[in-house]
Amino acid sequence: MTALTDSVFLRAARGEEVSHTPVWFMRQAGRSLPEYLKVREGIGMLESCMDPDLVTEITLQPVRRYGVDAAIFFSDIVLPLKAVGVDLDIKAGIGPVVANPVRTLADVEAIPDLTPEHVGFITQAVRNLVGELGGTPLIGFAGAPFTVASYLVEGGPSKEHAKTKAMMFGAPEVWDALMRKIAGIASAYLKVQVDAGASAIQLFDSWAGALTPEDYRTAVMPHSQRVLTEAGELGVPRIHFGVGTSNLLTLMGEAGADVVGVDWRTPLSEAIGKVGDRGVQGNLDPTLVFAPTEVMLERAAQVIEAGRAAKGHIFNLGHGVIPSTNPDQLKRLTDFVHSYA
Ligand code: CP3
Repeated sequence: MTALTDSVFLRAARGEEVSHTPVWFMRQAGRSLPEYLKVREGIGMLESCMDPDLVTEITLQPVRRYGVDAAIFFSDIVLPLKAVGVDLDIKAGIGPVVANPVRTLADVEAIPDLTPEHVGFITQAVRNLVGELGGTPLIGFAGAPFTVASYLVEGGPSKEHAKTKAMMFGAPEVWDALMRKIAGIASAYLKVQVDAGASAIQLFDSWAGALTPEDYRTAVMPHSQRVLTEAGELGVPRIHFGVGTSNLLTLMGEAGADVVGVDWRTPLSEAIGKVGDRGVQGNLDPTLVFAPTEVMLERAAQVIEAGRAAKGHIFNLGHGVIPSTNPDQLKRLTDFVHSYA
């Protein structure tokens, strides 16, 4: 067995015993790191995602600085859409903006399926990274169909996802075609990353918490299930994450996750009861980094203790690192999780 397959992160993801709880942070690359802001100077977000050397450097930065147990590939959930030719940009301080939002079946059919040729720069970046990372696993990722659909239909970030849900409720044939289109792209995109050497994947359904369990189960889950099933056939552990998903955790597990990501609003003990025989990932409130260090660490200890009841526990924040986070706090947090007995 190589050091990589025996890493604490992959062991925990498979529900095996570990010497300490593994830790990484969603959105650990970019955002708060001064070394990130420096290499990104004057370079657009999408442009940087398409430059394998830059992607390699940015992905490695938090691994070097914090010594986290996994790297997350530096990219974005809308990158595969850009790669197949959808006219979109990631605007600083706003997020993804789509020039021509998807409204009709013709709009859906105009989006090409993704082939490995669309994303040669991803293959290159993953290969570089796996070489550099050695025994540290690389997590590949994709946006889940509902969350990606929200950007495509709204045309940009949204709180209510009203146009998206209006399509889901009112135009089921367009909705179904869109979800199948995105699921196919996500699945092909994950396969590219795993084929190039990523050793786990995370499916981000960040905005699924906007749905009732019944709407999730009938209109969304089958499509996420397809992505997770196809990823499972690649032989890597699958993490399935969403925000505000307390009432969806059971279904998100059943969709085919090995590990269910939990935000900070749901106590880990409650989440563990809901996901059954699977691992959990999470779930420290990301604002605790702004509290006094001893308060942050006391809460982290509670998360670690709660995680012991799970089939496997990967320590993380309950959502992404907040941009104004002091990296020194994340370093202290990482060291604390590693040394916690
Ligand atoms: O650790 C990492 O940062 C890895 C790379 C990563 C990015 N986006 C880079 C990024 C990952 C894993 C994502 C996923 C992503 N993107 C999600 C799911 C995770 C989550 O937060 O729920 C979502 C919903 C998006 C869509 C998105 N992209 C938004 C809403 C925004 C704007 C807000 C923000 O995060 O700054 C982006 C832009 C984005 N994605 C940036 C980065 C580094 C900022 C780009 C810039 O510099 O302008």
